[in-house]
Amino acid sequence: MSEASRIRVLDPRLANQIAAGEVVERPASVVKEIVENAIDAGGRRIEIELESGGTRLIRVRDDGSGIGEEDLPLALSRHATSKIASLDDLEDVASLGFRGEALASISAVSRLELISNAADDPTGGWRVVAEGREMAPRVTPAPHPRGTSVLVRDLFFNTPARRKFLRTEKTEFGHVEEAFRRLALSRFDIAWLLRHNQKVVHQLPAAADDQRGHERRIAALLGKRFIDESLHLDIEASGLRLWGWVGLPTHSRAQADQQYFFVNGRVVRDRLVAHAIRQAYRDVLFHGRHPVFVLYLELDPRVVDVNVHPTKHEVALPRRASGPRLSVLEPASGTGRGATQLSGRGRHRCASA
Ligand SMILES: Nc1ncnc2c1ncn2[C@@H]1O[C@H](COP(=O)(O)OP(=O)(O)O)[C@@H](O)[C@H]1O
Ligand SMILES: [Mg+2]
Repeated sequence: MSEASRIRVLDPRLANQIAAGEVVERPASVVKEIVENAIDAGGRRIEIELESGGTRLIRVRDDGSGIGEEDLPLALSRHATSKIASLDDLEDVASLGFRGEALASISAVSRLELISNAADDPTGGWRVVAEGREMAPRVTPAPHPRGTSVLVRDLFFNTPARRKFLRTEKTEFGHVEEAFRRLALSRFDIAWLLRHNQKVVHQLPAAADDQRGHERRIAALLGKRFIDESLHLDIEASGLRLWGWVGLPTHSRAQADQQYFFVNGRVVRDRLVAHAIRQAYRDVLFHGRHPVFVLYLELDPRVVDVNVHPTKHEVALPRRASGPRLSVLEPASGTGRGATQLSGRGRHRCASA
């Protein structure tokens, strides 16, 4: 029997590189995963710094809980998470991550370094890097204030096939900025900074938890016109709350770019909702124009299945959870290619575009 046909266990780096195919597409996906960790760690201030569209460097710094020295080596290993321990936890997971794959995947396709301190002593802190085929973690002392910094250099340097798919610096930064908008729209209470090639692109103080505070944040991210020409709404029914802003017909756009829909703080691309909104504007928008909206749907986390997609851009809602008041969201039958499927199991997938 030839060597090639023998069954072998893949070395961890290769296994992680394969897994990375699911979650790490480009710098923007790295930013999303690392920032979600910073949010999960309770960060109140999150700073993101990029060089060359994120292909050369991505640095994310938070002031969250930090990771203790004993846990640091685990942070970079696959299937290691502090967020769930049992299937029960998975049922009502409130954190953004839980698969324990992101850092392992990213560190297999880049030069990743994590520096963290879980104590208040600013001279404390540890740096960890994963080395070699086995991705053995190496931990050394490194001062850091309480919180975590993750540095990702030279994304895809060791996976040329993936690197080929990266676009220009400008395009990659555009994707990062879009990921940033979604994150900053999902958490008004966090202060954000986005820097590219040493220039500050967005600096957003923590917003007051009221309509004015939220509107200031949205204006900073989507332009003042968005707020001036939209309606605020806030509706509660059958255990659901839907709130946010929908644009007046006078503020439509040529692309469907300013359309944000969050389910319990996660951004999702939902064709059912998009369809319902299109229907609502049917008689007031010209053909080819797209409405703008930032909408938040809040419901019991136990009825949302967030474990249907590795990047969690998709979630599954039980069909009945929509209740009578939101039945307007049901699509007309035969909505054609790409329309959301209402499956026989009564689940409805909100898919990313
Ligand atoms: N910024 C951070 N602050 C505190 N802990 C972190 C941070 N980033 C990662 N971690 C820890 O590392 C673990 C692994 O992260 P990750 O690979 O993204 O998996 P997941 O988020 O699915 O748990 C997390 O469960 C968490 O305990
Ligand atoms: Mg994570």
